[in-house]
This record gives sequence, C-alpha cells and structure tokens, in this order.
Amino acid sequence: MKKKNIPILRLNYSKREKHNISKEIKNILDSGYLTMSKKVFQFEKLFAKFVGTKYAVAVNSGTSALEISLRALNVEGKSIIVPTNTFVATPMAVLHAGAKVIFADISEKTLSIQIEEIKKKITKNTAGIILVHIGGLISCDWNKIKKFCDSKKIFIIEDAAHAHGSKINNKSAGNLGKAAAFSFYPTKVLTTGEGGMITTNEKKLYKKFLILRDHGKLNPAINIHTELGSNWRLSEIQGLLGLMQVKKAKKIINERIKIAKMYNKLLRNTQNLKLLKIPNNIKSSYYKYIVFVNKNIRNSVKKIMYKKFGISLPGEVYNHLCHSQPVFKKYKNKIVKGKNNNFKIAHKISSEHLCLPLYPGLTKQEIIYTVKSLKKTLEILT
Ligand SMILES: Cc1ncc(COP(=O)(O)O)c(C=O)c1O
Repeated sequence: MKKKNIPILRLNYSKREKHNISKEIKNILDSGYLTMSKKVFQFEKLFAKFVGTKYAVAVNSGTSALEISLRALNVEGKSIIVPTNTFVATPMAVLHAGAKVIFADISEKTLSIQIEEIKKKITKNTAGIILVHIGGLISCDWNKIKKFCDSKKIFIIEDAAHAHGSKINNKSAGNLGKAAAFSFYPTKVLTTGEGGMITTNEKKLYKKFLILRDHGKLNPAINIHTELGSNWRLSEIQGLLGLMQVKKAKKIINERIKIAKMYNKLLRNTQNLKLLKIPNNIKSSYYKYIVFVNKNIRNSVKKIMYKKFGISLPGEVYNHLCHSQPVFKKYKNKIVKGKNNNFKIAHKISSEHLCLPLYPGLTKQEIIYTVKSLKKTLEILT
C-alpha cells in the first residue's frame, strides 16, 4: 500500500464557486455596504428555512450565538446544566452571560447529557440546560429530556455547532429547543470562516437577539442603547459565504452521509473496534465519524495512522473534558459542585473514541485506504 497524505480537512470549493465568490465580493465592495446588509439578511432567511424555524439571527461566532441566547433568557445569577463533554465555549458562554455552570455526565448511547444527571443536578436556581448534539448526533432521549425540563419550567438551548442538517423524527436540529446556536468555523458542516447563527420560533426572543447583537440598540439606525449588548455582527463577505453554503447544504450533507455509510459498511465486524450506533429516527449530518477503541491504544492508533500511513485524524469530541479545564479551577465560585462529580461515562467516551477523516471531496480510494490503514494499525497494536 503506497503511503498517502490524508489531512484532517480539505475545503471543497469548486473552480466555478471560487469564481462566483470573487465576482460577488466585487459586487459587495461596489455596493459600499460591508456589514449587516443584503447578503447577511438573505443568509438569515435561507438558514431559517433550512432549519424550519421562524427566525434566524446571524452573529460572528457560535460562541456569541450561545452567549446571546443565554443573555436574552436573563440567566444572570442562575445556574445552567452543561455536559462536561463539549467544547469549552459552551460553559464559557454561560459564565460570560453571568450564570453559573453545573457540569453533567453524558450517556454512552447518545454522547449527550444523561437525563438522570439533569434530574440529580437540577436546583431551585437552575434556569435551563444546554444540549450539545455531539458529532451531529441528536440525543434519542430528546422527548424524555424535553418533558422533564417542561415539567420543571426550565429551558433547553441546543448547542447545534455540530449539527447543521441533523434531524430527529424528521425535525431539524435548531428547531427543537427554546433557541439554538450554530457555528460556521472552518471545520464545521457549513462554514463562513468565522460566524454563527441563532435560531428560534419565539418572536420576543428574536427581537432581543437583534438588539443584543448590535450593542443593545433598539433601532440599528439610532444610537440609543437599551441593553448590555456587544458587537456580535456578521460582515457581508461572511454573509455571502454563508448564503452560498446553505444553498448547497443538502449536497454537502448527502455527501457526508454517503462517506459515513461507506465507513459503516467497510468497518462492520472489525476486531477491537466499536462503531457508533445511530438510531433509525435520527439523521446525523456526520460532523464527525466516531469510532471506539481500547483506551490503552487510542493514542498509539493516532500516531501510527499518521506516521506509517500519512493519515491525520481529526480532533476528538472531546479528549479534554470541560470540568477539568484549568480555567474553571480559577473560577471555582462560578461552578456549582453537584452530587456525583466523577463523570464516569464522559471519561470513558473521551478516552476511547477517535474520529476518522470525513469531508466532501474525500475519495472512495481514500476511504478504502483509511479503513485498511486502521485495520492494519489495530492488528499491530492488539
Ligand atoms: C460544541 C461547540 N459549541 C460551540 C462552539 C463555538 O463555536 P465558534 O468556534 O464558532 O465560536 C463550537 C466550535 O468549535 C463547538 O464545537
């Protein structure tokens, strides 16, 4: 087998697309409007349609999408339940919005917050939870979690940074909770370089998002500030990139699913490798293709795949759990110490999983090569 070079990511813009982007950027420059104009508004409109929500608000990152959602829900002084297995932006947004974090363990089946943990850790001061759709997988316990949260009158915000186009019972991620935060970071299913989007069906929240995004201005044209907002706006060039991505979202997601299906087929019954089971009522857009190996060999698998086979495996989701991040030791008074803080399942998942390369443009030969390399690596190590 001749050694190949398979990177963690390739951006897949065709020659025609690049030509169109250049042309459109020229139009933007000629228009004289570089931020918050036609392209951003068209992007919002189309993204809302893609998710199936009434409203979508474009912002400059997934992190600000989370913070704005939390601020609009007046969480200051309250506590929010967050899975420890997420990107650090999720709990950080809670702290920036003036609330405290309660870290929760995850479920092995859903990679998302365990409902038992929510029941155990909720306090009188808890305003809501953030559900993170890890790797594009929506929790199949969604209905049970929603029912419990409704009964306790606490909200659910979706962290849908991984889940553009994922669905449960045919309903899209971003259209399930009170509000949802998407990221358009370059590794994500859809990208604008940097950028984010908040989706919601509630008009009151939508209006608050608009105000917060633009320095707390009730009316963008008048410098009267009524809320403690910030500059969370998106530029026209990012709006343009986003608009072009949503237009081809279906194609991008179908290609991701096709690659995942190939991996499923080729990796089935591989010794010393476990695949992630995705229930029939869940459609994942496969932000990540997750597999599990023995934790004692996980790091060696990564090394051999890179050194011997030239395959760079994409980052895990996640290999450093949030509750043990040094920053939260500095802000101890902002973390609510709940019962059961060993996060056993999160530790297990975190130490056993790997992500395989998956992006549009990855060829059939490259997928076969990756599978063969992984099988050979496992043979070497076990
Ligand atoms: C789960 C999760 N939440 C939030 C974010 C933050 O998004 P951004 O990088 O656009 O601020 C990310 C991005 O990496 C993420 O993966």
